[in-house]
Amino acid sequence: MNSEFSKAQPGSFAFIGGGQMATALISGLIRAGLPPQAIVVFDPDTAQQERLRTSLGVDVGGSVDARLATAHVVVWAVKPQVLRQAVQQASAHLRAPLHISIAAGIRCVDLSGWLGSTRVVRAMPNTSALIGASVTGLSAAPEAATADRRMAEEVLATTGHCFWVEGDERLNAVTAVSGSGPAYVFHFLEAFQAAAQAVGFDEVTARELVLKTVAGAVQQAQSGDAFGTLRERVTSRHGTTEAALAQLDLAGTADALKEAVAAACTRAESLSREIAQA
Ligand SMILES: NC(=O)c1ccc[n+]([C@@H]2O[C@H](COP(=O)([O-])OP(=O)(O)OC[C@H]3O[C@@H](n4cnc5c(N)ncnc54)[C@H](OP(=O)(O)O)[C@@H]3O)[C@@H](O)[C@H]2O)c1
Repeated sequence: MNSEFSKAQPGSFAFIGGGQMATALISGLIRAGLPPQAIVVFDPDTAQQERLRTSLGVDVGGSVDARLATAHVVVWAVKPQVLRQAVQQASAHLRAPLHISIAAGIRCVDLSGWLGSTRVVRAMPNTSALIGASVTGLSAAPEAATADRRMAEEVLATTGHCFWVEGDERLNAVTAVSGSGPAYVFHFLEAFQAAAQAVGFDEVTARELVLKTVAGAVQQAQSGDAFGTLRERVTSRHGTTEAALAQLDLAGTADALKEAVAAACTRAESLSREIAQA
């Protein structure tokens, strides 16, 4: 329970956009002790409003209105392509709050310029925020105060682990590793399940074998031993694991992963530029 959250006044947190990432954050904040009535969410989608009001008990609205003026913290959770327009619609109601943006690819410097404020923190969570297990990179406008950085970290920490990077461009690397990372793991799980089916297991058994094997291996890896050491420990000379790993080496899987992460990084950089110039 966060004591600062539990003392929050009605309407002191506003969300612009009430989609799945906003919902994950709002749920995390309420779990951490923020009263639902301290939160107002603006989203044009009436089904989204109804879901948020009934399932989380927060105040909701379609287009932004005077309720935004009481917000000390504004979380921007709309798609990157509509963020600039959303800022324009909201600007008349903003009373110099702390701004936290989770929009992928929008740099602090651009958002600061649109908002006319340096109280800006940018966050890059991943989909595991939906289950409170996000890995979230944070970056702040250089002028942002320590108290604002701390508040942004407390907000994002309600959905998982947070870490700071210096400079916006590092968030492109965060996007490429932890942002897109869950998809790499799902891709591996998919291929591993197909491989298990190819040696004779039915779909359900293959899925269970793969999931439990991966869960056990991840648990072992928490020991702190280097991943390479753990791999060597299960690889006996001329054994079955060695035969399998030789095939993975031959196929260049480690290099492919390196190239995949680099490609994601390059794409994050170009997306960031495209949005800034649009
Ligand atoms: N999903 C992820 O894994 C992930 C990870 C990191 C960062 N992000 C970032 O998180 C942000 C939100 O993602 P999401 O997956 O939650 O998106 P989403 O489910 O599409 O939610 C965005 C919501 O904002 C609404 N909206 C559109 N224009 C608005 C406006 N002017 N004012 C208020 N609300 C408005 C949308 O309504 P309509 O549908 O009616 O337009 C929609 O309900 C994105 O910028 C994304 O880059 C997502």
